[in-house]
Amino acid sequence: MTTLAARLARPEILALEPFDIAAQANSVFTADAIKLDANENPFAPLVQGPLSQRINRYPEPQPAPLRRTMAALYGVEPENLVITRGADDAIDILVRAFCRPEVDAVSICQPTFSAYAHFARLQGARVLEMRLKQNFDFDPASFIEAARADPSLKLAFICSPNNPTGNPVPAADVLRVVDALPDTIIVLDEAYIEFSELESLAPEATRRDNLVILRTLSKAYGLAGARIGCAIGNVDLIALAGRALPPYPLPSVSIEAALAALSPSRRSVHEDRIATLKAERERLAKLLESSPIVRKVRSGGGNFLFLEVDEPEALSAKLPQPRHPRPLSPERRAWGSASQHRQRCGKCSSALLPSGYGWTKNRRAAAKWCATPRRRVSRSRLISTGPSRVGSTRAFLSSITCSTR
Ligand SMILES: Cc1ncc(COP(=O)(O)O)c(C=O)c1O
Repeated sequence: MTTLAARLARPEILALEPFDIAAQANSVFTADAIKLDANENPFAPLVQGPLSQRINRYPEPQPAPLRRTMAALYGVEPENLVITRGADDAIDILVRAFCRPEVDAVSICQPTFSAYAHFARLQGARVLEMRLKQNFDFDPASFIEAARADPSLKLAFICSPNNPTGNPVPAADVLRVVDALPDTIIVLDEAYIEFSELESLAPEATRRDNLVILRTLSKAYGLAGARIGCAIGNVDLIALAGRALPPYPLPSVSIEAALAALSPSRRSVHEDRIATLKAERERLAKLLESSPIVRKVRSGGGNFLFLEVDEPEALSAKLPQPRHPRPLSPERRAWGSASQHRQRCGKCSSALLPSGYGWTKNRRAAAKWCATPRRRVSRSRLISTGPSRVGSTRAFLSSITCSTR
């Protein structure tokens, strides 16, 4: 019987022979083994210290210990999960495995994470852009209706909690879409779920033909630089998506970092940090709510906040300007300044993230600016919430308020 995944996959993916990689067996070699099959360098690596561990060898494509550890973390079996270079890479391989250029389509619900449309366009797939409701909640009925109108729709992305709004999508709404669109793969991005009150649908995805979950260690586990994420779903679908990966996708040091971060001894530290980030998010939300320039603060469930302000353009103009501004689409102009400002510059991170806010660079200059409204601090940046940063945020907001009047 042909599975749904096989029916939807690109013919090129179905025809691909999986890589025959000897590094699969890395774990059985001792450090001093003489290994000649992959033309590696036999000497100890030139780097020293913890980074040097077997780095002269190619890593296993899907290292079994990490696969087991991540599977246990997400409540699924190892074969239900393919480890990727961050959730970004999982989006990319899904699009490449299932979308034929200029034929197939993906759907997204705006405003949402930009990578879905980015990777779809890179592949030459069409992007159906639907809209969230006025209050930024997901509307399953209109999503289903629009999706049904396009028979070439292969992937439908739902982000919960949604970036940038933070709004959660209830599990019942996601499953309604899954049931209503049996010939489309619903990709539920749970990148921020650890900061929310939502239950993961990862175990459910293993029992469904057309539901895939994305998870990442970049956010809740603080490993953005290691680039470790995964796609979770039924065995056939995951095996097909994995064919779109390069032969050695995961750097050895990232594998080691992920295993160390997920070790049981780090569990309580992780949980404490999540609790702190959530508490700080709420504290900061209250502070921002009292600002006269903020109309509404949404703190639905990410490690960030989404601000609605009356005059996003005016506020954005007062924020430290990116060095490489690019024009804003009318869509983005409508969302509010925080997200808008962040979206302004893809090349440098000079931005106000929609998460919490603290000065990182050039604190002295920032403080001076706060004391003297109307002066711009070009090298200062604002970043995610940290416990000590709320004070500077208040100063920052009041300085904007002063200069707005
Ligand atoms: C909703 C969402 N999904 C996926 C990602 C990508 O995360 P990763 O670092 O795992 O590639 C991000 C990153 O900001 C995100 O906001």
